[in-house]
Amino acid sequence: MQPALALWIPLLQLLLVLPGQPQSLKEESTPSSVNCDQNQPAYELVKRVPGSVDEDGLCHCVVHLPNNLMPMNQLEQLQSITRVLMDKYDQELSREAPTYNLLRLELEGARELVTQLMAKEGGSETEDLLSQLQSQVANASLKLKLLADSDQRSLRAYRQEVDVLEGRLSDCEREKWQEASGPPLPPGSCAHGGLQKVSRPLVVQLNWRGYSHMAGVWGRDSAPDLDSSLYWVAPLGKNGRYFDYYRLYKSYDDLVLMKNYVERTMGYGDGSGNTVYENFMYFNYYGTRDIAKVNLSSNTLVLRRPLPSATYNNRFSYAGVSWKDIDFAGDEKGLWVLYATEESKGNLVVSRLNTSTLAVEKTWRTSQYKPAMSGAFMACGVLYALRPLSTRQEEIFYAFDTTTGRERRLSIPLDKMLETLHGINYSPLDHKLYVYNDGYLINYDLSFLVRKQKQSKPPA
Ligand SMILES: *[C@@H]1O[C@H](CO)[C@@H](O)[C@H](O)[C@H]1NC(C)=O
Ligand SMILES: *[C@@H]1O[C@H](CO)[C@@H](O)[C@H](O)[C@H]1NC(C)=O
Ligand SMILES: *[C@@H]1O[C@H](CO)[C@@H](O)[C@H](O)[C@H]1NC(C)=O
Repeated sequence: MQPALALWIPLLQLLLVLPGQPQSLKEESTPSSVNCDQNQPAYELVKRVPGSVDEDGLCHCVVHLPNNLMPMNQLEQLQSITRVLMDKYDQELSREAPTYNLLRLELEGARELVTQLMAKEGGSETEDLLSQLQSQVANASLKLKLLADSDQRSLRAYRQEVDVLEGRLSDCEREKWQEASGPPLPPGSCAHGGLQKVSRPLVVQLNWRGYSHMAGVWGRDSAPDLDSSLYWVAPLGKNGRYFDYYRLYKSYDDLVLMKNYVERTMGYGDGSGNTVYENFMYFNYYGTRDIAKVNLSSNTLVLRRPLPSATYNNRFSYAGVSWKDIDFAGDEKGLWVLYATEESKGNLVVSRLNTSTLAVEKTWRTSQYKPAMSGAFMACGVLYALRPLSTRQEEIFYAFDTTTGRERRLSIPLDKMLETLHGINYSPLDHKLYVYNDGYLINYDLSFLVRKQKQSKPPA
Protein backbone atom coordinates (compact mmCIF):
# COMPACT_ATOMS: atom_id res chain seq x y z
CA MET A 1 0.00 0.00 0.00
CA GLN A 2 2.98 2.28 -0.38
CA PRO A 3 1.50 4.30 -3.29
CA ALA A 4 -1.63 4.99 -1.29
CA LEU A 5 0.29 6.91 1.34
CA ALA A 6 1.71 9.30 -1.19
CA LEU A 7 -1.73 9.87 -2.56
CA TRP A 8 -3.14 10.90 0.76
CA ILE A 9 -0.98 13.97 0.77
CA PRO A 10 -3.03 16.06 -1.68
CA LEU A 11 -6.14 15.11 0.22
CA LEU A 12 -4.65 16.05 3.56
CA GLN A 13 -3.56 19.34 2.12
CA LEU A 14 -7.05 19.87 0.97
CA LEU A 15 -8.43 19.09 4.38
CA LEU A 16 -6.01 21.40 6.09
CA VAL A 17 -7.47 24.20 4.05
CA LEU A 18 -10.89 23.46 5.41
CA PRO A 19 -11.04 24.06 9.13
CA GLY A 20 -10.47 27.74 8.75
CA GLN A 21 -12.63 30.54 7.68
CA PRO A 22 -15.56 29.92 5.42
CA GLN A 23 -14.45 32.63 3.00
CA SER A 24 -17.11 34.88 1.60
CA LEU A 25 -19.66 33.50 4.02
CA LYS A 26 -21.30 35.91 6.33
CA GLU A 27 -20.12 35.10 9.84
CA GLU A 28 -22.80 34.32 12.40
CA SER A 29 -25.26 34.10 9.59
CA THR A 30 -26.48 30.64 10.53
CA PRO A 31 -30.24 30.72 10.30
CA SER A 32 -31.99 29.60 13.45
CA SER A 33 -33.90 26.96 11.52
CA VAL A 34 -30.69 24.97 11.17
CA ASN A 35 -29.38 23.50 14.36
CA CYS A 36 -25.63 23.68 13.84
CA ASP A 37 -23.37 22.03 16.34
CA GLN A 38 -20.87 24.86 16.57
CA ASN A 39 -18.76 23.09 19.15
CA GLN A 40 -17.73 20.38 16.78
CA PRO A 41 -14.24 21.23 15.54
CA ALA A 42 -14.22 21.15 11.78
CA TYR A 43 -11.05 19.09 11.61
CA GLU A 44 -12.88 16.20 13.20
CA LEU A 45 -15.11 15.98 10.20
CA VAL A 46 -12.86 13.43 8.63
CA LYS A 47 -12.08 10.67 11.01
CA ARG A 48 -10.28 8.31 8.74
CA VAL A 49 -9.06 8.42 5.19
CA PRO A 50 -8.42 4.87 4.04
CA GLY A 51 -7.24 4.40 0.52
CA SER A 52 -6.35 1.62 -1.81
CA VAL A 53 -4.85 1.26 -5.22
CA ASP A 54 -6.44 -1.03 -7.73
CA GLU A 55 -4.78 -3.01 -10.48
CA ASP A 56 -5.04 -0.08 -12.87
CA GLY A 57 -3.08 2.08 -10.46
CA LEU A 58 -6.03 4.23 -9.50
CA CYS A 59 -6.49 5.23 -5.91
CA HIS A 60 -9.84 4.97 -4.21
CA CYS A 61 -10.73 6.15 -0.80
CA VAL A 62 -13.73 6.39 1.41
CA VAL A 63 -14.26 9.03 4.01
CA HIS A 64 -16.20 8.20 7.14
CA LEU A 65 -18.11 11.06 8.56
CA PRO A 66 -19.78 11.38 11.93
CA ASN A 67 -23.54 11.65 11.87
CA ASN A 68 -23.95 14.35 14.45
CA LEU A 69 -23.03 17.36 12.36
CA MET A 70 -25.71 19.57 11.02
CA PRO A 71 -26.06 20.54 7.39
CA MET A 72 -25.15 24.22 7.76
CA ASN A 73 -21.72 23.42 9.11
CA GLN A 74 -21.11 20.94 6.36
CA LEU A 75 -22.36 23.18 3.65
CA GLU A 76 -19.76 25.74 4.62
CA GLN A 77 -17.09 23.08 4.40
CA LEU A 78 -18.49 21.98 1.10
CA GLN A 79 -18.28 25.42 -0.25
CA SER A 80 -14.58 25.56 0.56
CA ILE A 81 -13.99 22.20 -1.03
CA THR A 82 -15.72 23.10 -4.21
CA ARG A 83 -13.67 26.28 -4.39
CA VAL A 84 -10.43 24.35 -3.96
CA LEU A 85 -11.59 21.89 -6.58
CA MET A 86 -12.38 24.65 -9.01
CA ASP A 87 -8.95 26.21 -8.53
CA LYS A 88 -7.28 22.90 -9.19
CA TYR A 89 -9.24 22.37 -12.33
CA ASP A 90 -8.24 25.82 -13.49
CA GLN A 91 -4.57 25.16 -12.77
CA GLU A 92 -4.32 21.73 -14.23
CA LEU A 93 -6.43 20.75 -17.14
CA SER A 94 -6.25 17.04 -17.66
CA ARG A 95 -6.63 14.39 -20.29
CA GLU A 96 -9.83 12.44 -20.91
CA ALA A 97 -9.64 9.09 -19.14
CA PRO A 98 -12.27 6.53 -18.26
CA THR A 99 -12.26 7.69 -14.68
CA TYR A 100 -13.19 11.20 -15.71
CA ASN A 101 -16.42 9.85 -16.90
CA LEU A 102 -17.19 8.62 -13.44
CA LEU A 103 -15.97 11.83 -11.83
CA ARG A 104 -18.27 13.77 -14.04
CA LEU A 105 -21.19 11.54 -13.12
CA GLU A 106 -20.45 12.02 -9.46
CA LEU A 107 -20.28 15.75 -9.77
CA GLU A 108 -23.52 15.74 -11.65
CA GLY A 109 -25.00 13.62 -8.89
CA ALA A 110 -23.73 16.10 -6.33
CA ARG A 111 -25.31 18.90 -8.27
CA GLU A 112 -28.64 17.11 -8.35
CA LEU A 113 -28.47 16.60 -4.62
CA VAL A 114 -27.84 20.25 -3.98
CA THR A 115 -30.89 21.03 -6.09
CA GLN A 116 -32.92 18.70 -3.91
CA LEU A 117 -31.54 20.16 -0.71
CA MET A 118 -32.44 23.60 -1.95
CA ALA A 119 -35.96 22.54 -2.64
CA LYS A 120 -36.35 21.39 0.94
CA GLU A 121 -34.44 24.14 2.63
CA GLY A 122 -36.10 27.20 4.11
CA GLY A 123 -34.42 30.53 4.92
CA SER A 124 -32.83 32.86 2.41
CA GLU A 125 -29.28 32.70 3.86
CA THR A 126 -29.14 28.96 3.42
CA GLU A 127 -30.51 29.37 -0.04
CA ASP A 128 -27.73 31.80 -0.89
CA LEU A 129 -25.14 29.37 0.32
CA LEU A 130 -26.68 26.45 -1.46
CA SER A 131 -27.05 28.43 -4.60
CA GLN A 132 -23.34 29.32 -4.59
CA LEU A 133 -22.42 25.75 -3.86
CA GLN A 134 -24.64 24.60 -6.64
CA SER A 135 -23.05 26.86 -9.18
CA GLN A 136 -19.58 25.77 -8.10
CA VAL A 137 -20.43 22.14 -8.44
CA ALA A 138 -22.02 22.87 -11.79
CA ASN A 139 -18.88 24.68 -12.92
CA ALA A 140 -16.63 21.88 -11.72
CA SER A 141 -18.69 19.47 -13.71
CA LEU A 142 -18.39 21.64 -16.81
CA LYS A 143 -14.65 22.08 -16.42
CA LEU A 144 -14.24 18.37 -16.09
CA LYS A 145 -15.65 17.97 -19.56
CA LEU A 146 -12.89 20.20 -20.92
CA LEU A 147 -10.03 18.43 -19.22
CA ALA A 148 -6.91 17.76 -21.26
CA ASP A 149 -3.33 16.58 -20.58
CA SER A 150 -2.80 15.48 -17.04
CA ASP A 151 -0.74 12.86 -15.29
CA GLN A 152 -2.17 10.00 -13.29
CA ARG A 153 -1.20 11.65 -10.07
CA SER A 154 -3.50 14.60 -10.40
CA LEU A 155 -6.19 12.28 -11.62
CA ARG A 156 -5.96 10.41 -8.34
CA ALA A 157 -5.99 13.62 -6.39
CA TYR A 158 -9.19 14.72 -8.14
CA ARG A 159 -10.69 11.37 -7.46
CA GLN A 160 -10.08 11.73 -3.73
CA GLU A 161 -11.31 15.25 -3.62
CA VAL A 162 -14.52 14.31 -5.32
CA ASP A 163 -14.89 11.49 -2.79
CA VAL A 164 -14.69 14.03 0.01
CA LEU A 165 -17.22 16.27 -1.66
CA GLU A 166 -19.49 13.32 -2.23
CA GLY A 167 -19.19 12.12 1.34
CA ARG A 168 -20.14 15.48 2.75
CA LEU A 169 -23.08 15.89 0.47
CA SER A 170 -24.26 12.42 1.46
CA ASP A 171 -23.94 13.39 5.07
CA CYS A 172 -26.03 16.50 4.53
CA GLU A 173 -28.60 14.37 2.83
CA ARG A 174 -28.60 11.86 5.64
CA GLU A 175 -29.44 14.62 8.08
CA LYS A 176 -32.39 15.69 5.97
CA TRP A 177 -33.32 12.10 5.56
CA GLN A 178 -33.51 11.45 9.27
CA GLU A 179 -35.52 14.61 9.87
CA ALA A 180 -38.03 13.42 7.30
CA SER A 181 -38.17 9.73 8.24
CA GLY A 182 -38.27 9.75 12.02
CA PRO A 183 -36.20 7.46 14.23
CA PRO A 184 -34.22 4.71 12.54
CA LEU A 185 -35.60 1.18 12.64
CA PRO A 186 -33.89 -1.26 15.02
CA PRO A 187 -31.75 -3.90 13.25
CA GLY A 188 -33.83 -6.75 11.87
CA SER A 189 -37.12 -4.97 12.56
CA CYS A 190 -40.17 -5.34 10.32
CA ALA A 191 -42.28 -2.89 12.36
CA HIS A 192 -43.01 -0.70 9.35
CA GLY A 193 -45.49 -0.34 6.53
CA GLY A 194 -43.26 -1.26 3.58
CA LEU A 195 -40.63 0.49 1.52
CA GLN A 196 -41.00 4.25 1.26
CA LYS A 197 -37.90 5.55 -0.48
CA VAL A 198 -34.26 4.94 -1.33
CA SER A 199 -31.37 7.32 -0.64
CA ARG A 200 -28.93 8.37 -3.32
CA PRO A 201 -26.06 5.91 -3.83
CA LEU A 202 -22.91 5.98 -1.73
CA VAL A 203 -19.89 4.79 -3.71
CA VAL A 204 -17.74 2.62 -1.45
CA GLN A 205 -14.96 1.51 -3.78
CA LEU A 206 -13.99 -0.16 -7.00
CA ASN A 207 -14.04 -3.96 -6.71
CA TRP A 208 -10.67 -5.55 -5.93
CA ARG A 209 -10.27 -7.18 -9.33
CA GLY A 210 -10.53 -3.89 -11.22
CA TYR A 211 -12.54 -2.13 -13.91
CA SER A 212 -12.67 -5.04 -16.27
CA HIS A 213 -14.81 -6.97 -13.78
CA MET A 214 -18.01 -5.13 -14.60
CA ALA A 215 -20.34 -7.84 -13.25
CA GLY A 216 -20.40 -9.11 -9.70
CA VAL A 217 -22.11 -8.99 -6.37
CA TRP A 218 -21.32 -7.96 -2.83
CA GLY A 219 -23.03 -7.49 0.48
CA ARG A 220 -23.31 -8.27 4.10
CA ASP A 221 -24.44 -11.51 5.71
CA SER A 222 -28.19 -11.06 5.30
CA ALA A 223 -29.29 -13.14 8.27
CA PRO A 224 -31.01 -10.84 10.78
CA ASP A 225 -28.47 -11.85 13.38
CA LEU A 226 -27.22 -8.99 15.52
CA ASP A 227 -23.65 -10.20 15.87
CA SER A 228 -22.83 -10.67 12.22
CA SER A 229 -20.62 -8.11 10.55
CA LEU A 230 -19.37 -10.25 7.71
CA TYR A 231 -18.99 -8.49 4.37
CA TRP A 232 -18.26 -10.29 1.14
CA VAL A 233 -17.32 -9.27 -2.39
CA ALA A 234 -17.56 -11.51 -5.46
CA PRO A 235 -16.57 -9.86 -8.74
CA LEU A 236 -17.36 -12.27 -11.59
CA GLY A 237 -14.86 -13.19 -14.28
CA LYS A 238 -14.22 -10.71 -17.09
CA ASN A 239 -16.78 -12.50 -19.25
CA GLY A 240 -19.47 -11.41 -16.77
CA ARG A 241 -20.46 -14.99 -16.05
CA TYR A 242 -18.23 -17.13 -13.84
CA PHE A 243 -18.36 -16.75 -10.13
CA ASP A 244 -14.97 -18.12 -9.12
CA TYR A 245 -13.35 -15.83 -6.54
CA TYR A 246 -14.63 -14.09 -3.47
CA ARG A 247 -13.26 -12.14 -0.53
CA LEU A 248 -14.56 -12.02 3.03
CA TYR A 249 -14.07 -9.16 5.48
CA LYS A 250 -14.89 -9.30 9.17
CA SER A 251 -15.95 -5.66 9.29
CA TYR A 252 -16.89 -2.70 7.15
CA ASP A 253 -13.64 -0.97 8.12
CA ASP A 254 -11.63 -3.91 6.85
CA LEU A 255 -13.58 -3.77 3.61
CA VAL A 256 -12.94 -0.08 2.96
CA LEU A 257 -9.28 -0.48 3.92
CA MET A 258 -9.07 -3.70 1.90
CA LYS A 259 -7.21 -5.41 4.73
CA ASN A 260 -7.59 -8.52 6.89
CA TYR A 261 -9.53 -10.31 4.21
CA VAL A 262 -9.56 -13.92 3.19
CA GLU A 263 -9.60 -14.58 -0.51
CA ARG A 264 -11.09 -17.80 -1.80
CA THR A 265 -11.70 -19.59 -5.01
CA MET A 266 -14.84 -21.61 -5.57
CA GLY A 267 -15.46 -22.89 -9.08
CA TYR A 268 -17.96 -22.39 -10.64
CA GLY A 269 -21.02 -20.38 -10.06
CA ASP A 270 -23.16 -18.78 -12.71
CA GLY A 271 -24.01 -15.08 -12.67
CA SER A 272 -24.42 -12.57 -9.89
CA GLY A 273 -27.37 -14.04 -7.97
CA ASN A 274 -25.29 -15.01 -4.93
CA THR A 275 -26.21 -14.17 -1.40
CA VAL A 276 -24.73 -14.87 2.02
CA TYR A 277 -26.98 -16.02 4.82
CA GLU A 278 -25.84 -17.24 8.25
CA ASN A 279 -22.23 -17.64 7.11
CA PHE A 280 -23.10 -19.72 4.06
CA MET A 281 -22.96 -18.51 0.50
CA TYR A 282 -25.69 -19.63 -1.87
CA PHE A 283 -25.25 -19.60 -5.63
CA ASN A 284 -26.39 -21.10 -8.94
CA TYR A 285 -24.06 -23.90 -9.96
CA TYR A 286 -22.55 -23.21 -13.39
CA GLY A 287 -24.57 -24.36 -16.40
CA THR A 288 -27.22 -26.16 -14.35
CA ARG A 289 -30.45 -25.51 -12.46
CA ASP A 290 -28.63 -26.59 -9.30
CA ILE A 291 -28.49 -24.41 -6.26
CA ALA A 292 -25.43 -24.74 -4.09
CA LYS A 293 -24.32 -23.86 -0.60
CA VAL A 294 -20.77 -23.10 0.56
CA ASN A 295 -19.59 -23.08 4.16
CA LEU A 296 -17.67 -19.81 4.33
CA SER A 297 -15.60 -20.91 7.33
CA SER A 298 -14.07 -23.80 5.41
CA ASN A 299 -14.86 -22.85 1.76
CA THR A 300 -16.41 -26.27 1.24
CA LEU A 301 -19.40 -27.04 -0.91
CA VAL A 302 -21.78 -28.57 1.61
CA LEU A 303 -24.86 -29.03 -0.55
CA ARG A 304 -25.90 -28.95 -4.18
CA ARG A 305 -29.32 -29.88 -5.53
CA PRO A 306 -31.60 -28.97 -8.45
CA LEU A 307 -34.18 -26.22 -8.03
CA PRO A 308 -37.30 -27.92 -9.47
CA SER A 309 -38.49 -26.48 -12.83
CA ALA A 310 -36.12 -23.53 -12.67
CA THR A 311 -34.84 -22.30 -16.02
CA TYR A 312 -31.14 -21.53 -16.38
CA ASN A 313 -28.36 -20.71 -18.90
CA ASN A 314 -29.72 -17.23 -19.58
CA ARG A 315 -33.22 -18.43 -20.46
CA PHE A 316 -34.98 -15.86 -18.26
CA SER A 317 -32.32 -13.64 -16.76
CA TYR A 318 -32.90 -9.97 -15.93
CA ALA A 319 -32.92 -7.08 -18.41
CA GLY A 320 -29.34 -5.98 -19.03
CA VAL A 321 -27.97 -8.54 -16.55
CA SER A 322 -27.01 -11.88 -18.05
CA TRP A 323 -26.68 -15.31 -16.40
CA LYS A 324 -28.76 -14.35 -13.40
CA ASP A 325 -31.60 -16.81 -13.92
CA ILE A 326 -31.42 -17.95 -10.33
CA ASP A 327 -31.19 -15.12 -7.84
CA PHE A 328 -30.90 -15.64 -4.07
CA ALA A 329 -32.19 -13.16 -1.51
CA GLY A 330 -32.00 -13.06 2.27
CA ASP A 331 -34.19 -10.98 4.56
CA GLU A 332 -35.78 -10.86 8.04
CA LYS A 333 -38.00 -13.83 7.13
CA GLY A 334 -35.39 -16.21 5.75
CA LEU A 335 -33.69 -17.31 2.56
CA TRP A 336 -35.45 -16.95 -0.79
CA VAL A 337 -34.75 -17.75 -4.39
CA LEU A 338 -36.12 -15.74 -7.31
CA TYR A 339 -36.34 -17.43 -10.72
CA ALA A 340 -38.66 -18.28 -13.60
CA THR A 341 -40.01 -21.48 -15.08
CA GLU A 342 -41.40 -22.53 -18.47
CA GLU A 343 -44.73 -23.05 -16.77
CA SER A 344 -44.71 -19.49 -15.41
CA LYS A 345 -43.99 -18.31 -18.98
CA GLY A 346 -40.98 -16.45 -17.76
CA ASN A 347 -42.81 -14.64 -14.98
CA LEU A 348 -40.86 -14.38 -11.76
CA VAL A 349 -41.59 -16.93 -9.08
CA VAL A 350 -40.31 -16.68 -5.54
CA SER A 351 -39.64 -19.66 -3.29
CA ARG A 352 -38.70 -19.78 0.36
CA LEU A 353 -35.94 -22.29 0.99
CA ASN A 354 -35.13 -24.49 3.93
CA THR A 355 -31.56 -23.36 4.63
CA SER A 356 -30.38 -26.74 5.86
CA THR A 357 -31.74 -28.86 3.00
CA LEU A 358 -32.27 -26.25 0.23
CA ALA A 359 -35.72 -27.81 -0.25
CA VAL A 360 -38.44 -25.45 -1.48
CA GLU A 361 -40.84 -24.76 1.39
CA LYS A 362 -43.33 -22.68 -0.51
CA THR A 363 -43.60 -20.93 -3.88
CA TRP A 364 -45.48 -17.79 -4.95
CA ARG A 365 -46.11 -16.73 -8.55
CA THR A 366 -45.94 -13.08 -9.56
CA SER A 367 -47.52 -11.46 -12.62
CA GLN A 368 -44.25 -9.91 -13.79
CA TYR A 369 -42.07 -11.11 -16.66
CA LYS A 370 -38.62 -11.62 -15.17
CA PRO A 371 -36.61 -10.52 -18.24
CA ALA A 372 -38.44 -7.15 -18.11
CA MET A 373 -37.05 -6.45 -14.64
CA SER A 374 -33.51 -5.31 -14.04
CA GLY A 375 -33.34 -6.95 -10.62
CA ALA A 376 -35.20 -7.68 -7.40
CA PHE A 377 -34.69 -8.09 -3.68
CA MET A 378 -36.65 -9.20 -0.62
CA ALA A 379 -37.31 -7.21 2.56
CA CYS A 380 -39.58 -8.47 5.35
CA GLY A 381 -41.03 -11.15 3.06
CA VAL A 382 -41.92 -8.62 0.36
CA LEU A 383 -40.41 -8.90 -3.10
CA TYR A 384 -39.42 -5.57 -4.64
CA ALA A 385 -38.71 -5.47 -8.38
CA LEU A 386 -36.71 -2.89 -10.32
CA ARG A 387 -36.75 -1.74 -13.90
CA PRO A 388 -34.49 0.74 -15.69
CA LEU A 389 -35.87 4.20 -16.48
CA SER A 390 -32.67 5.54 -18.05
CA THR A 391 -28.91 5.04 -17.88
CA ARG A 392 -28.91 6.98 -14.60
CA GLN A 393 -32.09 5.93 -12.87
CA GLU A 394 -34.04 2.82 -11.92
CA GLU A 395 -37.50 2.49 -10.52
CA ILE A 396 -38.75 0.07 -7.90
CA PHE A 397 -42.03 -0.48 -9.69
CA TYR A 398 -43.61 -3.58 -8.21
CA ALA A 399 -44.01 -5.31 -4.87
CA PHE A 400 -45.32 -8.75 -3.99
CA ASP A 401 -46.08 -9.55 -0.36
CA THR A 402 -45.60 -13.26 0.38
CA THR A 403 -47.45 -12.86 3.70
CA THR A 404 -50.72 -11.77 2.04
CA GLY A 405 -50.13 -12.97 -1.53
CA ARG A 406 -50.97 -9.44 -2.70
CA GLU A 407 -49.13 -7.47 -5.32
CA ARG A 408 -49.03 -3.73 -5.91
CA ARG A 409 -47.55 -1.07 -8.14
CA LEU A 410 -44.94 1.30 -6.76
CA SER A 411 -42.89 4.13 -8.12
CA ILE A 412 -39.78 4.60 -6.02
CA PRO A 413 -36.85 6.08 -7.94
CA LEU A 414 -33.32 4.84 -7.39
CA ASP A 415 -30.35 6.72 -8.84
CA LYS A 416 -27.32 4.87 -10.11
CA MET A 417 -23.75 5.91 -10.86
CA LEU A 418 -23.32 3.75 -13.93
CA GLU A 419 -25.72 1.92 -16.14
CA THR A 420 -26.14 -1.62 -14.88
CA LEU A 421 -27.00 -2.88 -11.42
CA HIS A 422 -25.61 -6.39 -11.15
CA GLY A 423 -25.87 -8.06 -7.72
CA ILE A 424 -28.52 -6.46 -5.48
CA ASN A 425 -28.61 -7.63 -1.85
CA TYR A 426 -30.55 -6.33 1.11
CA SER A 427 -29.30 -6.41 4.69
CA PRO A 428 -31.90 -6.53 7.49
CA LEU A 429 -29.24 -5.41 9.98
CA ASP A 430 -28.77 -1.94 8.59
CA HIS A 431 -31.67 -1.73 6.11
CA LYS A 432 -29.28 -1.03 3.27
CA LEU A 433 -29.12 -2.26 -0.30
CA TYR A 434 -25.72 -3.47 -1.44
CA VAL A 435 -25.35 -3.09 -5.17
CA TYR A 436 -22.57 -3.92 -7.61
CA ASN A 437 -22.75 -1.18 -10.24
CA ASP A 438 -20.53 -1.91 -13.26
CA GLY A 439 -17.51 -2.75 -11.10
CA TYR A 440 -18.22 -0.30 -8.27
CA LEU A 441 -19.50 -1.29 -4.85
CA ILE A 442 -22.27 1.09 -3.88
CA ASN A 443 -24.97 1.07 -1.25
CA TYR A 444 -28.25 2.77 -0.49
CA ASP A 445 -30.21 3.47 2.69
CA LEU A 446 -33.77 2.24 2.56
CA SER A 447 -36.47 4.01 4.46
CA PHE A 448 -39.78 2.49 5.36
CA LEU A 449 -43.26 3.84 6.00
CA VAL A 450 -44.10 4.33 9.65
CA ARG A 451 -46.78 1.89 10.64
CA LYS A 452 -49.90 3.45 12.10
CA GLN A 453 -50.08 3.35 15.91
CA LYS A 454 -53.67 2.14 16.05
CA GLN A 455 -52.52 -1.35 15.16
CA SER A 456 -52.49 -2.60 18.74
CA LYS A 457 -51.42 -6.20 18.33
CA PRO A 458 -48.56 -7.41 16.18
CA PRO A 459 -49.69 -9.85 13.49
CA ALA A 460 -49.38 -13.49 14.53
C1 LIG B 1 -19.34 29.56 -12.93
O1 LIG B 1 -19.13 29.88 -14.29
C2 LIG B 1 -19.79 31.04 -14.74
C3 LIG B 1 -19.58 31.19 -16.22
O2 LIG B 1 -18.28 30.84 -16.59
C4 LIG B 1 -19.26 32.25 -13.95
O3 LIG B 1 -19.95 33.43 -14.32
C5 LIG B 1 -19.50 32.03 -12.47
O4 LIG B 1 -18.93 33.07 -11.71
C6 LIG B 1 -18.88 30.71 -12.04
N1 LIG B 1 -19.28 30.44 -10.67
C7 LIG B 1 -18.41 30.11 -9.72
C8 LIG B 1 -19.00 29.93 -8.38
O5 LIG B 1 -17.21 29.95 -9.93
C1 LIG C 1 -18.38 -25.05 8.55
O1 LIG C 1 -16.98 -25.14 8.61
C2 LIG C 1 -16.46 -25.00 9.92
C3 LIG C 1 -14.94 -25.00 9.81
O2 LIG C 1 -14.48 -26.15 9.14
C4 LIG C 1 -16.98 -26.11 10.80
O3 LIG C 1 -16.50 -25.95 12.12
C5 LIG C 1 -18.51 -26.07 10.80
O4 LIG C 1 -19.02 -27.14 11.55
C6 LIG C 1 -19.03 -26.12 9.39
N1 LIG C 1 -20.48 -25.99 9.44
C7 LIG C 1 -21.32 -26.77 8.79
C8 LIG C 1 -22.76 -26.57 9.05
O5 LIG C 1 -20.93 -27.64 8.01
C1 LIG D 1 -35.62 -28.00 7.23
O1 LIG D 1 -35.73 -29.36 6.88
C2 LIG D 1 -35.33 -30.25 7.93
C3 LIG D 1 -35.32 -31.66 7.38
O2 LIG D 1 -36.54 -31.94 6.70
C4 LIG D 1 -36.29 -30.08 9.10
O3 LIG D 1 -35.90 -30.92 10.18
C5 LIG D 1 -36.25 -28.63 9.55
O4 LIG D 1 -37.20 -28.41 10.57
C6 LIG D 1 -36.53 -27.69 8.39
N1 LIG D 1 -36.32 -26.34 8.84
C7 LIG D 1 -37.30 -25.46 8.88
C8 LIG D 1 -36.91 -24.11 9.34
O5 LIG D 1 -38.42 -25.71 8.52
